[in-house]
Amino acid sequence: MKVFEIRDPGTPEALRPSTREEPVPGPGQVVMELRAASLNYRDLLILRGHYPNLRLPVIPLSDGAGTVVATGPGVSRVRTGDRVAGIFNQNWIDGPPPRQAMALGGDRDGVLAERVLLPAEGLVRIPESLSFEEASTLPCAAVTAWNALFVQGRLRPGETVLVQGTGGVSMFALQFAKMAGARVIVTSSSDRKLDKASLLGADTGINYRTCPEWDQEVLARTDGVGVDHVVEVGGAGTLGRSLSCTRPGGHVAVIGVLSGGQAELAVFPLLAKQLRMQGVYVGSRRHFEEMLDAIVQNNLRPVIDRVIPFASAPEAFQALADEEFTGKICLKF
Ligand SMILES: NC(=O)c1ccc[n+]([C@@H]2O[C@H](COP(=O)([O-])OP(=O)(O)OC[C@H]3O[C@@H](n4cnc5c(N)ncnc54)[C@H](OP(=O)(O)O)[C@@H]3O)[C@@H](O)[C@H]2O)c1
Repeated sequence: MKVFEIRDPGTPEALRPSTREEPVPGPGQVVMELRAASLNYRDLLILRGHYPNLRLPVIPLSDGAGTVVATGPGVSRVRTGDRVAGIFNQNWIDGPPPRQAMALGGDRDGVLAERVLLPAEGLVRIPESLSFEEASTLPCAAVTAWNALFVQGRLRPGETVLVQGTGGVSMFALQFAKMAGARVIVTSSSDRKLDKASLLGADTGINYRTCPEWDQEVLARTDGVGVDHVVEVGGAGTLGRSLSCTRPGGHVAVIGVLSGGQAELAVFPLLAKQLRMQGVYVGSRRHFEEMLDAIVQNNLRPVIDRVIPFASAPEAFQALADEEFTGKICLKF
């Protein structure tokens, strides 16, 4: 079967087409035939050689949706023909996070392949109302936003949420926060993207290029109080300002490293304001399933910027790097 592999991360030829043996399911395993996949910033970090603990060569991408085409002995959770998506961390079904993550497309082979072998426990059934492309956007970005806001953040109607940029995690966070009756402030590098965010329900937007002291602007737009929650995807370059524009007792979901992973932190404001900083690493299968219920009930449609054919996967990575998109970039198989 056809796959793409990463052999030498950080080199121009890092992503290459290749072939692998057809997978055969053993006990408790299934074969999912991919219909769509989506990219995350993590996939770019992996391609560039900026991600720890890779098992090389690796088939990249964590997020894919398709149909079950074969099941091994003892599988009862899913049947041949079921529409499914893989969960990000194959080791995290429920409860607290496991000691060792087993994430697709990094710790083990991912979904940039015509077919993939997975434990039946590592799948969720996808609702009829979602297309394969839409379902493929959910395992990493959407579950992360869901966990940050509803599980760790315990978001309530009427609270204010700050989301940074208009990428995958942030657009899901915007949609989930509006679904829950929150007020949402979006930052972006681009006024055009802020207009798109406003069509999705963003209450107000701030261009962080033309307004580099965007934390002061967030404070101004919250009557000097600050936001209740920050979906912190910026990392080193944004964390300090995120803490500065969070209200006393507020919550900062520490998720991303878009502007670097090593930050210097002023400790005093953190304790004086009694802020809650919570690391988030995607979520469990239970989080995924609870999120799917909410998506169906609220008829939430993932924001897909474009769909690119499987054979042109390198183009999709380039599009992600160019940052001229909002929401998600998908691949169609
Ligand atoms: N911890 C976890 O579980 C987890 C899960 C998913 C993602 N992540 C991390 O979260 C981050 C976002 O991931 P993603 O897949 O959503 O990314 P993405 O879809 O690639 O988002 C890229 C967008 O982020 C915005 N951006 C770039 N630099 C920024 C900055 N300095 N400040 C604010 N916004 C900036 C840009 O939008 P604008 O042009 O609109 O500014 C850019 O188009 C990444 O660091 C990723 O590794 C972590």
